[in-house]
Amino acid sequence: MSVTLYARDVGQGTPLVLLHAFPLSSAMWLAQRERLAGRFRVVTPDLRGFGGSRLGDDEPSIDAMADDVAQLLRSRGIGKAVIGGLSMGGYVAMALCRRHPDRLLGLVLADTKASADPEPVRQNRLRRAEQMETEGSVKVLLDEVLPNLVGPTTYRQRALIYGRVRGLVQATPPAAAAWAQRAMAARPDSFDALRETRVPALVLVGDEDTISTPEDARAMADALPNGELLVIQRSGHLTAVEQPDLFNQAVSDFVAAIAKTMD
Ligand code: MLT
Repeated sequence: MSVTLYARDVGQGTPLVLLHAFPLSSAMWLAQRERLAGRFRVVTPDLRGFGGSRLGDDEPSIDAMADDVAQLLRSRGIGKAVIGGLSMGGYVAMALCRRHPDRLLGLVLADTKASADPEPVRQNRLRRAEQMETEGSVKVLLDEVLPNLVGPTTYRQRALIYGRVRGLVQATPPAAAAWAQRAMAARPDSFDALRETRVPALVLVGDEDTISTPEDARAMADALPNGELLVIQRSGHLTAVEQPDLFNQAVSDFVAAIAKTMD
């Protein structure tokens, strides 16, 4: 059963749907809503369990999150959109490529990877999920995940951004975070789906990203028949938050080029 997602929906024109990272919410897309809504219709949902969206009672699965997004598009009268996702949002975007390819005008994959988790990573996610449920807290994420979310440049030079990301992690409900960890642990490899995705695709990655590395990004761009890769300098895993101007420029040029082909 799909969950009705809470979504911020601003601007007009070609629809651009942006799917957030773990363990954040649509609040991470503030700079994209501010800067891109002048040119496009920017829709930023809270994925199930995060922000203003309820968790529902399905088994953990990235596919369920993708079906929620497809349902959101239907309910807002959006036939096709440029779908962008950062990290976990990228996993959801790739599930949309697999399950709802007719919804895509274009694809933006930022700081994410198409491979499934190796077994030790999977086990680590399941351990964290159990710990969050037992403790009723996301402390384990603050200790183990937060330190790697932003790159060393942001950590040293942009304390306000680091503080903002920390606040978003702290606001995550433990049950949603545990559910999402299990969903990510169960996700399949998406390289076949990318090979079959014919729409234009933009792959972005921070040069300091250690969670989804520039090598992961290159592998996705190589698999996509119509993919281009852009490495964003002096950014870690959260390019949209750490280097919003560079991120927005790249996405804006990409969506504008797609929009032009539709005139
Ligand atoms: C994210 O930023 O969404 C997470 O790092 C994804 C993951 O844990 O693989």
